[in-house]
Amino acid sequence: MEKIAFFDTKPYDKEWFDKINKNYEIRYFEGRLRPASVRLAEGCRAVCAFVNDDISAKTIELLAEQGVEVIAMRCSGFNNVDIAAAEGKLRIVRVPAYSPYAVAEHAMGLIISLNRKIHRAYNRTRDFNFSLNGLTGFDLYGKTAGIIGTGNIGRVFIDICRGFGMKVIAYDPYPAEGSGIEYVSTEEIFRNSDIISLHCPLTEQTRYIIDDKAISLMKSSALIVNTSRGKLIDSEALLRALNEKRIGGAALDVYEEESDLFFKDNSDSIVTDDVLSILVSRPNVLLTSHQAFLTEEALRGIAEVTLSNLDDFFAGRELKNEVKSKK
Ligand code: NAI
Repeated sequence: MEKIAFFDTKPYDKEWFDKINKNYEIRYFEGRLRPASVRLAEGCRAVCAFVNDDISAKTIELLAEQGVEVIAMRCSGFNNVDIAAAEGKLRIVRVPAYSPYAVAEHAMGLIISLNRKIHRAYNRTRDFNFSLNGLTGFDLYGKTAGIIGTGNIGRVFIDICRGFGMKVIAYDPYPAEGSGIEYVSTEEIFRNSDIISLHCPLTEQTRYIIDDKAISLMKSSALIVNTSRGKLIDSEALLRALNEKRIGGAALDVYEEESDLFFKDNSDSIVTDDVLSILVSRPNVLLTSHQAFLTEEALRGIAEVTLSNLDDFFAGRELKNEVKSKK
């Protein structure tokens, strides 16, 4: 039986991989994959990794030296993998789409909560504070949603927005043909949207797509929701805008410096990230810790596709979900 070294394991990962797995001996490790933890994969031709593992050139070199031939990413994003460094050393596969509904529905959940202050109402009513002061939101009906990235998740989110009676405008360098989506420039999105939702990958082009300049074009009531990758938003620029009331609020499932904090209980530690500490303390900021994917359907889909990617690799079949360097 082939062995897989599985890094950054959480109880819900183990539950679903154990349910679906028939062909492999999976060695689960709680720690992240990084150069110092590569030795745990000794005797394995495959490793399975997630969004915050360090899959830099160094990690790849050490894994390849040790006989690892494939890294199966159990996620869709692969910005944490040095793809160019992997070329010729080992293969990278991923799960391009599992449940786009999971992420899109979470994005809408965040928007509704942020807009209608449900997170604040929840805290108030637990303390028998039934005052409504400060809880006024706005109707989503008739408002404009600006979507950046109209791939699997972006398009599901657009359908949800349309269900709410919103007008939708979008930007994507590769427009979805025949979709009936109204494509505009990013500038028009920033100027005209009441909510802005990010559904593009993190690349050189999209890093800090929301920066001081972008925010300066936005309505002062605009709500930004980010369920994609933290580095799409310059957090310090966001904080400046929130401080100066140049933006309505932000709902964040991802944060640019999340890797040392998210997916862990830090409640007994002193978190020294001051930007994050101020952001979470704001009534018009709502943070979840990269949980948009976390539905039963998505976890099942992730386990099924990851294991079938490995089946293809070990059977010498074509890797339909391989990630390759563009160079
Ligand atoms: P996808 O690959 O189906 O769609 C991405 C879209 O972004 C494509 O249409 C692409 O053309 C577009 N795009 C590329 N460069 C762009 C640019 N410069 N500006 C605007 N659009 C651009 O990916 P999918 O499945 O829709 O996922 C989107 C992102 O969501 C992923 O890259 C990942 O970072 C994030 N994600 C977050 C999860 C979470 O739990 N928070 C879970 C799954 C994905």
